[in-house]
Amino acid sequence: MGQPFGSYQNEIYLNGLGGIVPPYPMAFAELEDRARSALPPSVWSYVAGGAGDERTQRANVTAFDHWGLVPRMFVGAAQRDLSVDLFGMRLPSPVFMAPVGVIGLCAQDGHGDLATARAAARTGVPMVASTLTVDPLEEVAAEFGDTPGLFQLYTPTDRDLAASLVHRAEQAGYKGIVVTLDTWVTGWRPRDLSTANFPQLRGHCLANYTSDPVFRARLPRTPEEDPQSAVLLWTQLFGNPLTWDDLPWLRSLTDLPLIVKGICHPEDVRRAKDGGVDGVYCSNHGGRQANGGLPALDALPAVVEAADGLPVLFDSGVRSGADIVKAIALGATAVGIGRPYAYGLALGGTDGIVHVLRSLLAETDLIMAVDGYPTLADLTREALQRVV
Ligand SMILES: Cc1cc2nc3c(=O)[nH]c(=O)nc-3n(C[C@H](O)[C@H](O)[C@H](O)COP(=O)(O)O)c2cc1C
Repeated sequence: MGQPFGSYQNEIYLNGLGGIVPPYPMAFAELEDRARSALPPSVWSYVAGGAGDERTQRANVTAFDHWGLVPRMFVGAAQRDLSVDLFGMRLPSPVFMAPVGVIGLCAQDGHGDLATARAAARTGVPMVASTLTVDPLEEVAAEFGDTPGLFQLYTPTDRDLAASLVHRAEQAGYKGIVVTLDTWVTGWRPRDLSTANFPQLRGHCLANYTSDPVFRARLPRTPEEDPQSAVLLWTQLFGNPLTWDDLPWLRSLTDLPLIVKGICHPEDVRRAKDGGVDGVYCSNHGGRQANGGLPALDALPAVVEAADGLPVLFDSGVRSGADIVKAIALGATAVGIGRPYAYGLALGGTDGIVHVLRSLLAETDLIMAVDGYPTLADLTREALQRVV
């Protein structure tokens, strides 16, 4: 085993002896605050905002406060093992970067997808690359190094285009396809509505479409010659309101692991499992899509139970190592980070993301050390107590 994740704090304290303090925030509140200043207002409101009055978005975060980990002593958890097997991949930790569609725009150089892929290469934390990127999926995958990556599909209405995107992802070496089910239509987002701001309509983050042979063949002129027509076609093809009848077709598209994102109901888990998916992804899209819902964390235990051994990915509201520990103890196989890495990217590019991920992993590792839970398998539902 290499250096434990917790050793990031030794690095920081030792640097302090030479008068060096971390250039990036150590607390989420400060990270968020500084990202607000670093990003153009339209990008900030798109990333930070959510659906309705953002009650569900906030509840995703506060849901973690209702659980506490019970410390165990005389365990001597001097060595921790955070590694996990997922779809045949051996990962150093159960953490991954959730798909963030405008991550490209969060970087100062406008190539945030590449910066994120480089952070994956440096940390071993996989990136789930969105369909909505500034740079094509092949160029993103080329930056992964030895870290596996997954491709997130927004299923277009045009089945040939869907197949083309999936096959391109296979060719580029992605290790799984995550199909997002909760975003065939955009949720009601007052922050973006008040500035009439929807990045894709302005032609942003459409590289996977404009580089696709099937998409291009649908256009009278190339997207380079006629970007407006490309955007118009994109609006017609983007959102597919899938039903269970579409699942066999989705399954038939690839032999790669197929994961369905946005699943929060146990009955949906069972049907997805019957339909041959390899994993379910419990998430409410960070509260961006529908307000008035349950925090995703509250849906997790029933999803895990219904999954009955099938891997369960989880995101929505994870802001700290303590949150990661709790999601694992509630049964998540792997935990997705969303907004925090976007904010790290805004502040420091790849270095900023690496800092955010290393901080989250260090805190996770140190909680497991202090509280006496040396492996992920030790983090069970019994390790948690409900806090009212
Ligand atoms: C700006 C932004 C863009 C997103 N784009 C996508 C996307 O393209 N595909 C997707 O499946 N989820 C997308 N998500 C949802 C994330 O994958 C994840 O579910 C969410 O960020 C988790 O909530 P949190 O960031 O509050 O922890 C996006 C989230 C944000 C904040």
